[in-house]
Amino acid sequence: MDADAIIIGAGACGLMCAVQAGFLGKKVILLEKANQPGAKILISGGGRCNYTNLYATEEQFISANKHFLKSAFTQWTVEDTIGFFETYGITGQEKTLGQLFPENKNAKAIVELFRGLCQDMDQQIRCNAEVKEIHILEEGFTVSYEKGSKIFHLHAPKLVIATGGLPIPKMGATDFALRFARMHGLNIIETAPALVPLTITGKEEEWYARLSGNAVFCELSNDRISFEENLLFTHWGLSGPAVLQISSYWRKGESINVNLLPHQNISELIEKERAGNGKTLLSSLFNRLYTRKFTEALSKYLPVDKPVGALTKIEMEYIHQTIHLFKVKPAGDKGYDKAEVMRGGIDTRELSSKTLECKKIPGLYFGGECIDITGWLGGYNFQWAWASAFVIAQAL
Ligand code: FDA
Repeated sequence: MDADAIIIGAGACGLMCAVQAGFLGKKVILLEKANQPGAKILISGGGRCNYTNLYATEEQFISANKHFLKSAFTQWTVEDTIGFFETYGITGQEKTLGQLFPENKNAKAIVELFRGLCQDMDQQIRCNAEVKEIHILEEGFTVSYEKGSKIFHLHAPKLVIATGGLPIPKMGATDFALRFARMHGLNIIETAPALVPLTITGKEEEWYARLSGNAVFCELSNDRISFEENLLFTHWGLSGPAVLQISSYWRKGESINVNLLPHQNISELIEKERAGNGKTLLSSLFNRLYTRKFTEALSKYLPVDKPVGALTKIEMEYIHQTIHLFKVKPAGDKGYDKAEVMRGGIDTRELSSKTLECKKIPGLYFGGECIDITGWLGGYNFQWAWASAFVIAQAL
């Protein structure tokens, strides 16, 4: 045997798993297809890495089995993540909504930390090593990988597949975990891009494109969920945190409700203005609430050039409806090229919730994004990657 375990994929989950296994005195070999470990960590959070969220619970995750991650989240908590990084000099700074980033440091520091710990504990990271095949033996596994143009073979009693999800193919994302799972009869929950910008086409396209670069704080909702954050207009549609969040709950053909003025009531604001100065133009009132560009764009739907005192009852109702229940029907999403994560993945029913060991293939573990656990935007996905890595390491 070449090691106690082989880990395929030196991303967030694989790296943390190697380190935690090292703490327990277990030797692992990490095989990474890319020329460096932690490529997605490096680009995460705009290069700053939003490595956890202070308020992470199972409520901010999408899965066909919502309770599955409870065990992992009990074994490895947000406090454990914070404590782990603090031990090695990375303290957290909350940006917004519980999102924790390294204080005065960036994503590189996180990857360097894992590299350093792996080196100190003699956990090998082999880069430019793409795993091509896995053979399940009576006892353990043979893993064949390509490095240069040569094929190498490794044997170990335990195997961890932490090859991530499908987003950003140009960074080398693969469907390795899904393909392997399918080949061995494991169920897959249908996958789709998540935390992804949405596109608008057709006759509305130009209206949205003209607003490109403008952001509006709003509440986006459908019958499943609602999010209050910024919506950003782009020349092809919609982006920004509110849109990325709801995209994970959006299905093609559905509309999204946009409340363009959460926490305030536009009818009341107009009534108040009317009582003071009925000559105020609706556009002047809107300019206090939105950018000029957005007010201009609203003129397509609303009588912005009218004095508030002259608005009819029907117009008032229509204004209320447009501001508080603006309907958007995206044409599609920007796909895996622009998605932050993948929705769906290996069905959790195939795995032990305590150790993430595959029930049908003892000794094999899946961790991180390849499993049907998808977090919201805001550090939740890394929290899952660290937690899944920890529980696997305990079982190796
Ligand atoms: P990850 O993708 O990190 O690692 C998988 C590794 O396996 C890769 O290095 C890949 O090269 C390797 N691999 C694949 N096939 C292989 C094979 N056959 N052989 C060998 N190696 C193979 N989340 C968050 O919580 N906070 C944030 O700030 C962000 N920001 C962010 C920005 C952007 C642009 C993206 C795309 C994503 C994020 N995320 C995020 C999501 C986060 O990056 C993601 O959830 C984790 O990286 C998932 O960790 P994994 O270890 O599962 O996969």
